[in-house]
Amino acid sequence: MPTIALGVTGGIGAYKAVEVARGLQKAGHEVVVVMTEAARHFVGPLTFEAITRHPVITDQFAPGANADIAHIQLATDAALLLVAPATANCLGKMAHGIADDFLSSLYLATRAPVVVAPAMNTFMWEHDAVRRNLEVLRERGVRVVEPGEGFLACGWMGKGRLAEPDAIVAAVLDTLRKGASLAGRRFLVTAGPTFEDIDPVRYVGNRSSGRMGFAIAEEAAARGAEVTVVAGPVSVAPPPGVALVRVRGAVEMRDAVMARAKGQDVIVMAAAVADYRPERATEKIAKETQTLTLVLHRTPDILEGLGRERAEGRLPGTLLVGFAAETSEVVARAREKRRRKQVDLVVANDVSRSDAGFDVDANAVVLVAEDGEQELGLAPKREIARGIVDRIERLLGTRKE
Ligand code: PMT
Repeated sequence: MPTIALGVTGGIGAYKAVEVARGLQKAGHEVVVVMTEAARHFVGPLTFEAITRHPVITDQFAPGANADIAHIQLATDAALLLVAPATANCLGKMAHGIADDFLSSLYLATRAPVVVAPAMNTFMWEHDAVRRNLEVLRERGVRVVEPGEGFLACGWMGKGRLAEPDAIVAAVLDTLRKGASLAGRRFLVTAGPTFEDIDPVRYVGNRSSGRMGFAIAEEAAARGAEVTVVAGPVSVAPPPGVALVRVRGAVEMRDAVMARAKGQDVIVMAAAVADYRPERATEKIAKETQTLTLVLHRTPDILEGLGRERAEGRLPGTLLVGFAAETSEVVARAREKRRRKQVDLVVANDVSRSDAGFDVDANAVVLVAEDGEQELGLAPKREIARGIVDRIERLLGTRKE
């Protein structure tokens, strides 16, 4: 069974981490505990050592500890890093990449999924600094087990109490299960804008950054899928662990997608593909007239082409997911697009909002499928991606192969 690294930081809830360790062991996992210095004021390492039957890591530079390979290898061996309780200080260090003890260094060194269970005073929990740090971590894919409400150790009543051990263990097991749930599946995801050239120096484009498509690709890869991303000229870095194909215009994107479509389990068109492209001048257009008229031609509709290929039996078994970027009648138009393009799922987003959609970190969407609709409220794109991939998994489960 996989090993879980359990980071314990200095909060009154540290004693509950003992029960969390037990719960994980009961589920069959090895647990290696890493304690910060502050945590040791609340619970002794011996308690964890006796329960887990593994030495507890307390110091990055303890003499002798660096010769201990198991200790150093925890970053690669751990199937998941759980931090419970996670103090405001620990969350701040994780968000900002500060590595001044074993636990914060482990967070940077591991590529395993990360779950945090914050616990702190209500006012600290509500503080803008903590909110923003959590948002950064969520955007990176860290799963947050929200604290509970009630009487806090400091005497206040409110939100901040460490979540119950059962809920923390359930979140860990769910994250681990999802980590392998798409193993053996192939995903093709498009991301970003397309640029349609007017002449050798000018183009028509749009504000898509690539964030939404990359978040979906990252989530699918985190669940074990083999992911290829066809990306237009994006403004953000691609996620690790995916094969990347860079393209520029809609025709090039169509060719790249069609060449790779066969054999995919899922194709997600998150790219904002231009609907029209100008007739390209071979020379730079000179500034000679007061007005300039561009003649635009329709581009191929890639998603519609995929729907047609599947309907005609050339993409058997491939699940097709499109987006609908709308400024009004968002869901009604998404329904119409789903039917017309013959796809399984359309992710509808209102791109007139300034806090969601194009070129921002968050989105708010409605998932439109044949069997119903589901709203995913405003959240970081990585979290929205989690909801979209959950829905895709359900569709894969019910689809006839
Ligand atoms: O990249 P970000 O900054 O994160 O922004 C994310 C996003 C707003 C771009 C994304 O959430 C989104 O809405 N992507 C789809 C944008 C779009 O082109 O929507 P549409 O309603 O015009 O197109 C409908 C669907 O057809 C889309 O899946 C699109 O990829 C596809 N399409 C459109 C035109 C075309 N010629 N070929 C296509 O395949």
